[in-house]
Amino acid sequence: MLGMITVRLAKVSDAKSLFDWRNDPNIRAVSEQTKPLIWEDHIRWLTHTLQSNTEHVFIGEQDGVPIGVVRFSVEHDHALVSLALAPEAQGKGYGKSLLALGIAQIGSMPIRARIRSDNVASRNCFAACGFLETSRVKGFCCYNYIRLTFKEIVPKDDHITALYEALKLRKHAISHVNLPSFEDHKEFIKKHPYRSWNFVLAATECIGNFYLQNDNSIGVHLLPGYDHMLPVLLKQILHDYDPLPEIKSKRSAGFVLHVPIGDHERRAQMNANGHMPLQITYTLEKGQV
Ligand SMILES: CC(C)(COP(=O)(O)OP(=O)(O)OC[C@H]1O[C@@H](n2cnc3c(N)ncnc32)[C@H](O)[C@@H]1OP(=O)(O)O)[C@@H](O)C(=O)NCCC(=O)NCCS
Repeated sequence: MLGMITVRLAKVSDAKSLFDWRNDPNIRAVSEQTKPLIWEDHIRWLTHTLQSNTEHVFIGEQDGVPIGVVRFSVEHDHALVSLALAPEAQGKGYGKSLLALGIAQIGSMPIRARIRSDNVASRNCFAACGFLETSRVKGFCCYNYIRLTFKEIVPKDDHITALYEALKLRKHAISHVNLPSFEDHKEFIKKHPYRSWNFVLAATECIGNFYLQNDNSIGVHLLPGYDHMLPVLLKQILHDYDPLPEIKSKRSAGFVLHVPIGDHERRAQMNANGHMPLQITYTLEKGQV
């Protein structure tokens, strides 16, 4: 299993890593200023940036080793984001994880990006995190981040079919071992046992669904290839919904997330992002006890 990516605020001691990454010829070639950087200028830039209220620099780490940087520069009413991975970390799919963690950190501020039109890897990363191209100016594509939208699930044919297709793609589940029949699935959706149940859209793309239960538990199902969006989605659920009031020994005071025991990736992702595991739930059958 790949080590999980985490982010933390940049520090003065990151100066050398940041200098090496920013000065890498491939990174200079895709930047707006392509000339090599000078160490003294870099230190001046970093000192100013770390003290500024309008610059937010996050270092991505994998198992504690710095692998890249995601930076937000606040300009008037929005933040301009830039992303760079260390040369040895490129080409492994870490870019979208780092970008998603950065978006989750920055909150609800509108975010824009400018990417060279021939930088396909970067454009794919931004698209996979919910950025939409708005225009092209002098060889650069301009992108806006579209906040995730939630679309309520109702027992309509297209919703039932989309959920069934998503169910087929799921590798881990808590409530069933085998895929339920389409008829059982349809009945389940008609009963709609949840407080709220929604599809999740990143820009125009459906990336999964989530439900909230009356016991304040949350279930999140992301379609394959979108696990990196979990921190953004959780941040937004916590922003948009309040937990129901606590009922001692029946309902926890805050939201909790159910993760299937076999979903090691999701468990590692939650642990890496500082969430505390609460309990393990076992099945109990009469014949076993
Ligand atoms: C751009 C950057 C952030 C991308 O991150 P990454 O994790 O290395 O990205 P990947 O190589 O995994 O590529 C992302 C996606 O684009 C695809 N891709 C990459 N190069 C491609 C190409 N030339 N043609 C078609 N698809 C390509 C990958 O297959 C991957 O697709 P997937 O998500 O469906 O698997 C990183 O490479 C980097 O830091 N580069 C240097 C600095 C830079 O360009 N910064 C962006 C400026 S805003």
